Amino acid sequence: MKRRAGLFLDRDGTIIEDCGHLRNGWQVAFIPDTVETLKRLQDEFVLFIITNQSGVADGALTLGDVNGVNNHIISHLADAGVVIQDVYVCPHRREDECLCIKPKPHFLYQAANRWNIDLSLSIVVGDHPHDVELANNVGGCGIYVLTGHGQKHLQELPPESLVVPRLKEAADWILALARYNNKIENLKEELRRAGEAIRQGQLVVFPTETVYGLGANACDAQAIARVFQVKGRPRFDPLIVHIADIAQTESLVEEFPAAARRLAENFWPGPLTLILPKNNRIPEIVTAGLPGVALRMPDNQLAMALIRESGVPIAAPSANPFGYISPTTADHVREQLGEKVSVILDGGPCRVGVESTIVSFVDEQPRILRPGGIPMEEIERIIGPVGQIEQEQRRPMSPGQLPRHYSPQTPLILADHDEQVTISGRVGLLSFGPSPRFNSYVSIEVLSQSCDLNEAASNLYSALRRLDAKNLDVIVAHLVPNEGLGITINNRLRKASGGRTAEKL
Ligand code: TXA
Ligand code: MG
Repeated sequence: MKRRAGLFLDRDGTIIEDCGHLRNGWQVAFIPDTVETLKRLQDEFVLFIITNQSGVADGALTLGDVNGVNNHIISHLADAGVVIQDVYVCPHRREDECLCIKPKPHFLYQAANRWNIDLSLSIVVGDHPHDVELANNVGGCGIYVLTGHGQKHLQELPPESLVVPRLKEAADWILALARYNNKIENLKEELRRAGEAIRQGQLVVFPTETVYGLGANACDAQAIARVFQVKGRPRFDPLIVHIADIAQTESLVEEFPAAARRLAENFWPGPLTLILPKNNRIPEIVTAGLPGVALRMPDNQLAMALIRESGVPIAAPSANPFGYISPTTADHVREQLGEKVSVILDGGPCRVGVESTIVSFVDEQPRILRPGGIPMEEIERIIGPVGQIEQEQRRPMSPGQLPRHYSPQTPLILADHDEQVTISGRVGLLSFGPSPRFNSYVSIEVLSQSCDLNEAASNLYSALRRLDAKNLDVIVAHLVPNEGLGITINNRLRKASGGRTAEKL
């Protein structure tokens, strides 16, 4: 049987706040995003908790206290659908010279034997240098987080260690490392190569939290022309420019209105694109001659590392042939653009899974040009009511506004979830929640067993691609609740249907 990769998580300061000796479950405070992050990682890693609790040897805690707290953590995570395979506790002091205290690898060997874990493919995440050393001691990869005691011991870290703000950011590296032999040197080398390629005017595909982008130097008109060519995209359709800090934004625009700045402060890095009046550093080809430039700071560690490494802003549309479904894995890209780009950075599946929300600040009133990864309600919570551009505008200002877009090759029609659709032939179903018990579908894709809109968004494009590969006559797609990310999902489904209905197939 194939050995699996393990993810060994330090407890205090890494998944929960470090609040000294914890005796009770009610004292546990999870670090924000822990649950979502672990959900994302558990598809590819077996999860463990590994913790030193010297308070037991000191008499400040009992082993019963520690186990109670651990059980609380495990059951809280289990309720959210996250499985922790095992928990390892060292109750000793360093001077006890036990076998099990970090960075000694005793517990990792135990996990390897009991749970069939390949330690060379495994990762340890923690807020103490011992966590990184622990990984190094078994030929795995250690990642240091700056939560908990992270800031305090930063100086003691082995050189070349990977340091990230939180577990959430560690996840981007973890999923990428799984694709580069679990060797940070390999991944860093690939990032250098990709940065160099961008500077040379070549194309690089990179992951973002929304979808994969097909990137080129935003200040190099010739490189941008290649992007249009490779994607088969009409020149009237402008590109989003990806930046790594606010200063870079300021260097590309004439004006940064206060409301736009507030959105940036709240949602960057993240799935939000701002259209701001451009200055002349951005060539016309990028904006298709429009007065505004679209800017966004992606919430993905590889994307940010690439922008920094290349030293230039990177213009990138989604890395799919024009009009087709956006890619949310590197394999999606390889299948369609493989030969045509210099580097494909593989960061694993995209977290959000639908494109960014686009808000324009070119006119008096801010307007949403495309619903996306940040729900409209959240935008309005920060800057008050925003206008929305008419869906069926004649001259599309944003191809997200073209009537047919994000489409599979197979005809797709929309239906309400309780609607009976009778069509003959090989029919597939894209279902929001659990699939109907009695049905005649040849193939069914469920976006979220628990009817979670975020999960549904992250699965949307992969599911559509799988259905599109099944040689179906028709795909029936169920509309989802029209709130939060549901608005974005329904928007993409409408575009994918191109206005088709059961009658007009
Ligand atoms: O999440 C995303 O936004 C992804 C990732 C790769 O960042 N990118 C993306 O790019 O979806 P693309 O090219 O597939 O869609 C960009 C949209 C288009 O609808 C385009 O018309 C609009 O942004 N856009 C770009 N620049 C614009 C501008 N200057 N004025 C108006 N619309 C603009
Ligand atoms: Mg810790």
